[in-house]
Amino acid sequence: MTLKLRRLSNALGAEVCDIDLTKPMSESTFGEIYSAFLQHGILLFRNQNISREQHIEFSSRFGELDKHESLPRDRHPDYPELLMVTNKPNPDGTPSESRYTGRSWHTDFSYTTNPALGSLLRCHQLPEVGGDTLFANMYMAYDTLSDGMKKLIADLHGIHLSGTRKINVADKGNERRTEVMKLNPPIAQPVVRVHPETGRKAIYLGEKVKRFDGMTEEESKPLIDYLNKHATQPEFIYRQMWRENDLLVWDNRCTLHQALGDFDETQIRHLERTTVKGTPSGYVVANG
Ligand code: OGA
Ligand code: MN
Repeated sequence: MTLKLRRLSNALGAEVCDIDLTKPMSESTFGEIYSAFLQHGILLFRNQNISREQHIEFSSRFGELDKHESLPRDRHPDYPELLMVTNKPNPDGTPSESRYTGRSWHTDFSYTTNPALGSLLRCHQLPEVGGDTLFANMYMAYDTLSDGMKKLIADLHGIHLSGTRKINVADKGNERRTEVMKLNPPIAQPVVRVHPETGRKAIYLGEKVKRFDGMTEEESKPLIDYLNKHATQPEFIYRQMWRENDLLVWDNRCTLHQALGDFDETQIRHLERTTVKGTPSGYVVANG
C-alpha cells in the first residue's frame, strides 16, 4: 500500500491517515512507515484505541524496547516497556512521581550511553485544554548554522545530566531525583551527532546540558544558550495538541521535545510511552 500522509508543520512531522493499529500490518507497510519516520522525524497516528499489548507490539517493530532501567520508578508495574507520563495520583493518594516528565527541551535518555532511537507516546486521558508538547527539528537547526559556527562546534561534547527539570525546585533532594541521578552519571554526547541511518548531521543538545566537556559552566553557558535558542526557534517547531488515542512516534536522534505543562494540574493528563533503544553514543564523564 502507499501510505496516506499529511504533513503536520513546515519543519517536521506527518500524520499517517489510514492505518488501524488494531489490525495486522505487513512487513512492506511497516517498511513504508519506517521510511516516513526517518523522513519526517515524527509520525502521528490518530484514533488508535489499542491495548497496552498492541502499543508494545507495534513499538517493537521499530527495534528492541528499553525496559526503563534508568527510570525504574516510572514504569508500569506489569509492563516494564511502558513508562508512565501521568499526574494521576498513586493508589495511596500521593502525587505521581512522573507528573513533571519532559518539562524542558530534551531528547530521551541522552544522559545514558544508549540514548533512545525513538519513543512512542500514547494519549490515554487529557485535561480539558492544553497539555501540549513541542518538537523541534535538529537537522534544520544544524543546517542553518554558519560554516564558522559549524566548525566551532564540530568536536564539542555536551555533558547531559539526568534530573534537571526546570520545575523541580520543590523536588530538590527528593528520593526519586537522587535515585535517578545515582543510576545515571553525567554522560558526554557529541554536540553534532551524525544520524546513524540517514547520515545527516543534527544538533544533539537541549537543556540537560550545562557545560561542554573540558570547559567550565561559565565558559559553556553562552554558547549552549545560543544553540538551544537557535535550535528551538518557532520556524523549526511542531506543536502537538493531543487528542485521546493519539499515538505519536518521534526520532530522538534528530529532534528535541518539551512538555509545556500548559494545563490545569488539578485535571488528569495520562500518557504512556515505549522507548526504542538506539545505538551506543557518548561516554561517562569522570568529573561530570
Ligand atoms: C516523554 C516526554 C512529553 C509530554 O514522554 O518522553 O517528554 O508532553 N513527554 O508528556
Ligand atoms: Mn521525553
